[in-house]
Amino acid sequence: MSHGPEEIAIAVQRLHQGRLVAFPTETVYGLGADATSEVAIARVYSAKGRPSNNPLIVHVTDSTMAQRYADVWPRDAAVLARAFWPGSLSIIVPNGKNIPSLATGGGPNVALRSPAHPLTLALIKAFGKPLVGPSANRSGRVSPTLASHVSESFTAEDVFVLDGGPCAGGIESTVVDLTRPGPTILRPGLISAERIAAVLGKPVLVASAMPSTGESLPSPGLLESHYAPVAPAVLIDSNEIGAALADGSQSVVVLAWSERGKLAPGLVIRMPASAAEYAAMLYRALRDADATRPDLIAIENVPRGGDAADTAVWEAVRDRLMRATAPR
Ligand code: TXA
Ligand code: MG
Repeated sequence: MSHGPEEIAIAVQRLHQGRLVAFPTETVYGLGADATSEVAIARVYSAKGRPSNNPLIVHVTDSTMAQRYADVWPRDAAVLARAFWPGSLSIIVPNGKNIPSLATGGGPNVALRSPAHPLTLALIKAFGKPLVGPSANRSGRVSPTLASHVSESFTAEDVFVLDGGPCAGGIESTVVDLTRPGPTILRPGLISAERIAAVLGKPVLVASAMPSTGESLPSPGLLESHYAPVAPAVLIDSNEIGAALADGSQSVVVLAWSERGKLAPGLVIRMPASAAEYAAMLYRALRDADATRPDLIAIENVPRGGDAADTAVWEAVRDRLMRATAPR
């Protein structure tokens, strides 16, 4: 658990040695390594237990650094970076020569993002090169939103953790692909398709996260089961909360945001009713629920209504809940 100039110096030294440094962002913690070193990138895949065809996001300080690593930096990329960076938007463009294709899952394109956290921007600046950074969890599991979450999954010897406090956003960045005929969202996040379309002044497609069989995945990371707690998890309606808790045959933890959760006896983790606050707390709540070693985690379905901004955030939350509760 570390922060400050001395920690950045240690982190930079580790990165130069090709070793791993977990860094805070406004979304979730990333598992960082030198994005220009094949050896370092290989360590990330192996530490996470991640299939090497699932590409990594490359973190930069700003669009000037991004342009040094992209083969082409389209006008749309410049416009999006100006509007949303530093921030939770990953932009896919053709990869240049300096990021090994191991980081891109073997493919021709690279996802670039400038994270909105001062500690991590200072780290990348001091290192002078971009960092690959998948979420700092074991592959398929719940992403970390606290430094202690990272320390639970990796030893201090393997991963040096820069502690930047709790992640404010709480769910992973929106991923937009600019290498297709039209801009396409591959992963929903807190920056909505509507905002991206408004800034670009053109329509934005949203790739179906779960294509029918036979079709190839738009992004290998969009596998159905993901962000999964250890205990089996299911979605329930608000009026099923009482029954879920009354089931004496198994121990159940309920994540509830509505008034119904207040009335329910037993183990309920109260979730915020505001979309942004719910998103910020979701992964921590799933991890806290898991820590009680329940037989089941029952998650109350989230609202569909609200204003446009809320609707988009609930949409991104719902995407994570679908994956957390998908059959494994
Ligand atoms: O908020 C975030 O994006 C966090 C923080 C640490 O920046 N990172 C993160 O990385 O969520 P990860 O590896 O857990 O998820 C990256 C997603 C995956 O779904 C991956 O398949 C997709 O982005 N992706 C990365 N590069 C890609 C590429 N070149 N083409 C298509 N999809 C890509
Ligand atoms: Mg991840």
